[in-house]
Amino acid sequence: MAQSGVHFSRRTPSDLRVNRIAAVRHHLPPPLDLTVSNPTRVDIPYPRDLLAALADPEGLVYRPHPRGLAAARRAVAQDLGRWGGAVDPERILLTASTSEAYSFLFKLLCEAGDTVLVPAPSYPLFEHLARLEGITAHPYRLDPESGWRVDLSSLEALPRARAVVVVHPNNPTGSLVCAEDREALVSRCAERGWALIADEVFLPYPLGEELLLESFVTESRVLTFTLGGLSKRLGLPQLKLAWIVTSGPAPLVGEALERLELIADSFLSVATPVQLALPSLLAGGRPVAAAIRARCQHNLSCLGEILAHHPTLSLHPPAGGWSAVLRIPSVIAEEELVVELLRRDGVGVHPGYFYDFPSEGYLVVSLLPRPDLFAEGVRRLAQRLEALL
Ligand SMILES: Cc1ncc(COP(=O)(O)O)c(C=O)c1O
Repeated sequence: MAQSGVHFSRRTPSDLRVNRIAAVRHHLPPPLDLTVSNPTRVDIPYPRDLLAALADPEGLVYRPHPRGLAAARRAVAQDLGRWGGAVDPERILLTASTSEAYSFLFKLLCEAGDTVLVPAPSYPLFEHLARLEGITAHPYRLDPESGWRVDLSSLEALPRARAVVVVHPNNPTGSLVCAEDREALVSRCAERGWALIADEVFLPYPLGEELLLESFVTESRVLTFTLGGLSKRLGLPQLKLAWIVTSGPAPLVGEALERLELIADSFLSVATPVQLALPSLLAGGRPVAAAIRARCQHNLSCLGEILAHHPTLSLHPPAGGWSAVLRIPSVIAEEELVVELLRRDGVGVHPGYFYDFPSEGYLVVSLLPRPDLFAEGVRRLAQRLEALL
């Protein structure tokens, strides 16, 4: 029997077709893929017994806590101590991923139809995560001329804005929220009643001169939620564990935590074995994080060396993270170049417009690929551009 009249909500888009670049990649998967973001597929050495603690027989008993098991939260607090000073485990709530953390925070802070301010360029998933919660992600601008500082004039006083998101270091620009911008953002939040959401998934991955990047976890002046997770912290996205650290004025923190606990209690989405294993994972996973950091640093310096011979391409040096942004001359549209590289050179890169850059003329490369593949991919990209000049 055919059924008619079923309604699908606008939280998912009506046009589900893949974009042109994805369609080309589907037919021509690039052997030199400079878009990989999955650290488990790029020959990073993981200790063979890293996941042994997941088999702890304690995991046979189900005794959930909506904020996450106390020992797991203590392990996160201890790990975070490295960046932000002492963190009270009672201010930590575990989620299955940072994406889930966003969804909990949007439920906590927004009515349907409200707005959160998100940086542009940045992580493209914001729009989607916001839409799934029935809210809007409204961009504020990061300025390329000033090393991606916040353009304060674009932080609009929208009547239904509830929160401002910072990504620190930002994906894909690798830029940090500098001390001056942090002050300005905090005072805007205080004046306008916005919460501050600081996505720090890439904080453990400095690439520039500053080796220990400063965290928002101790921000006490406005209601602040700082996010991190195993996906980037230990290069283990498949374990599905992330965290929200709440800070700010005490009465607001208390109420936010109680309400967040209620949201988390409705899902109880973090598996018990990964919570039990967390202290051992955070200790045993250090060599993995070190290997990822060394890989990104190595590929970044190799990128610098290759570009020194190819002045057609210039680099916006990242301060942290797993990616780099290249400026290309305006001889070809980003999308055409990306398709050319796939078809003729077997090289995969992302066009800037995927990340909402302020204009055409940007490419984004991942710093994760195996060094030989990375170097060859960048060389072919530079040669292709030179051939177009
Ligand atoms: C800035 C940023 N935040 C969050 C995430 C997602 O992390 P998770 O796997 O914990 O959802 C990513 C993934 O690339 C990211 O780039």
